[in-house]
Amino acid sequence: MDKDKIIALLNQDIEDEHGAIIQYLTHAYAMGEGEMACEIEAIAREEMRHLDWLAETVVELGGTLSLERGKMLMEGRAVVEWMKNNVQLEDGAINQYREHIKIVDDPKIKRLLQRILSDEESHHGDFKHFVDKAQREGAEDVRGSRQDGTTQTLNWGIEHEYTVILQYLLHSYMTRNEEVKEQMQDQAINEMQHLGWLAEEMVDSGSSPRIEHTEVDQSTKTADMLRADIKIEREVAAAYDRAAKETAESDLKKLFLRLRDHEVYHADVFSDLLKEEEEK
Ligand SMILES: [Fe+2]
Ligand SMILES: [Fe+2]
Ligand SMILES: [Fe+2]
Repeated sequence: MDKDKIIALLNQDIEDEHGAIIQYLTHAYAMGEGEMACEIEAIAREEMRHLDWLAETVVELGGTLSLERGKMLMEGRAVVEWMKNNVQLEDGAINQYREHIKIVDDPKIKRLLQRILSDEESHHGDFKHFVDKAQREGAEDVRGSRQDGTTQTLNWGIEHEYTVILQYLLHSYMTRNEEVKEQMQDQAINEMQHLGWLAEEMVDSGSSPRIEHTEVDQSTKTADMLRADIKIEREVAAAYDRAAKETAESDLKKLFLRLRDHEVYHADVFSDLLKEEEEK
């Protein structure tokens, strides 16, 4: 089978995993604390692993990763409807993976897709169970409609975190420097934590997170990647520092300072890596 065709199929799967991750995270955050929200977040994490495996495969094949986000099913106001949407999304994924398994002839890729398919079948069952559970026990959208300077700052943070998650993952897949790769993966996971903290803070404080991202740096040379990453880290560290000074709420202040400290650390780690890269 033609390599470009496989890359295109895998990129389609990557886009759909990306959409599923954001759909499930949106639900998990919107439901606040609770067992079901935790389980949905765990499913989103499994989709992240899928995305990671698929992305590594595309890069191994010499392809360019798609950063597009696949279609999300976000209609409905009640949790029951959301869970039905999730069942439907998993249905679509199952059909698509089955289709791709049939077409792809590379045994290693076929095996990977089968591995992912078995997760999707399990998710399908989980979400069906959540439909019943939400119907039986009731589950609520706990988001509010608060909109002020604080929610703006928090949403700006979410937008930033989502952008760097994509950026560091992309850089981790594209760089040939093993140490850079490892750090990018590590810091991307840290940024996922940040996104979660900000989204949970938003929901706790009565507002509604909007998970969108801005432009992702697509440099192909490791030194250029690091320069872009350092620049964005310095900007965000300064922004969190400002936000910490501006807020009167002590919990928020603590959150912003903690985020700032992490971002300063990221900038320092990336700066050291850039120095080493430039000395090569
Ligand atoms: Fe899934
Ligand atoms: Fe961050
Ligand atoms: Fe960072």
